[in-house]
Amino acid sequence: MLFRGWGESVDGPWPDAATVVDHVGVPHLVVTRHALVRRLLTDPETFRPDNALDAVTPIPVAALRVLAGHRFRLPPTLANNASASHPEIRAIVAEALHPDRVAAQQPWLTGLVRERVTRLAAALAAGEPVDLYAGLAADLPLLVLARLVELPDAPVGAVKDFARAALELFWAPVDETRQLALAAEVGRFHTVLRAFATTGGGLAARLRAAGHSPDVVVGALFFLLVAGQETTSQFLTLLLHRLAGEPAVRAGLRAGDIPVADVVEEGLRLEPPIVTWRRVATVDTTLGDAEVPAGTSIVAWLARAGRDPAVVAAPGEFRPGQRGSRRHLAFGAGPHRCVGAQLARMEAAVVVAEAAPLLDGVTVVRPPWCPDNLTFRMPDAFVVRRT
Ligand code: HEM
Repeated sequence: MLFRGWGESVDGPWPDAATVVDHVGVPHLVVTRHALVRRLLTDPETFRPDNALDAVTPIPVAALRVLAGHRFRLPPTLANNASASHPEIRAIVAEALHPDRVAAQQPWLTGLVRERVTRLAAALAAGEPVDLYAGLAADLPLLVLARLVELPDAPVGAVKDFARAALELFWAPVDETRQLALAAEVGRFHTVLRAFATTGGGLAARLRAAGHSPDVVVGALFFLLVAGQETTSQFLTLLLHRLAGEPAVRAGLRAGDIPVADVVEEGLRLEPPIVTWRRVATVDTTLGDAEVPAGTSIVAWLARAGRDPAVVAAPGEFRPGQRGSRRHLAFGAGPHRCVGAQLARMEAAVVVAEAAPLLDGVTVVRPPWCPDNLTFRMPDAFVVRRT
């Protein structure tokens, strides 16, 4: 069950912490309660992030050779970096994503989303089905990221393919044939990043100027290109789908009774694109009633923590502004808490404000389908049609 059906089991009964053996026989302690997940994420002495990006399906030698052929190396830089270099690398990335710089992108993004919404509204009015993932959410976060952080000059489609391949290679149950294909895709883009890391400006130049090696620059860009855009386009898609089934919330938005920011927070709580995140115990310890030997892989079930009745008044209901709504852990917590949270919130607020009206009077032709993945939801499409 570790990979299948996070969606169905998120509301069902579940112990506070339970050991689950995954598809390759590795045990993980899955932690579900808000307080335990918070403790796990905010105590880096006891629970390190070293395993955050480990491949859940071991990568076979043949695929490792493919990666090595592209000189693929990924030293810990951000999410899985517990070393002394983390605060400095994080500070350089955080500066690029400073709330003032994020806010400055809002008018431009609003204009772009408005244009798209006008086009999509016309298609709906003509009775055509529209895919709100492909037509609205898929590339927006990458376009914004490229205005904040200098990125290699690569087509949007190539970056999306690479990012989704990376999420599948590292977090999905995959067979060897697929691993080879994914390794080729990830390796190809890694080569592009490696070239950019030595010459690129902006963030890459600042990391170089701070004395970081090309491998570190590649590692930081690699993570940012995955975490900084794919997550948000997944979230936008899942949130729009959720809102399609919440007519009262849309009416509240229309009337101005429900603030857009509250809808975004409730969306993050109930539809987080990242459902789990990992840590590893450094010493023998306990989490709740569970004994945790040193070396245990611990899966923080972020989606479930957001539905903890100890924190939220009506855990399963989409009630923007309700008590506990903002206390979700969708962005993690502690020293590795998401540095892009402000950016993701701004993007989601623009999309909710501009695109929610598109959902009035539509039926869902094709809900988002999410493949098996330990951590990322990765919806593939969201098609609606005016009825
Ligand atoms: C809805 C969208 C997003 C969600 C749900 C999300 C969630 C997360 C989570 C759960 C973590 C791990 C936190 C932890 O270990 O405690 C994380 C880390 C991170 N995220 Fe996000 N993220 C999103 C968007 C973004 C964006 C837009 C960016 C940047 C453009 C970004 C950049 C990062 C970085 C750099 C880290 C690593 C921070 C560190 O280790 O110091 N994320 N994110």
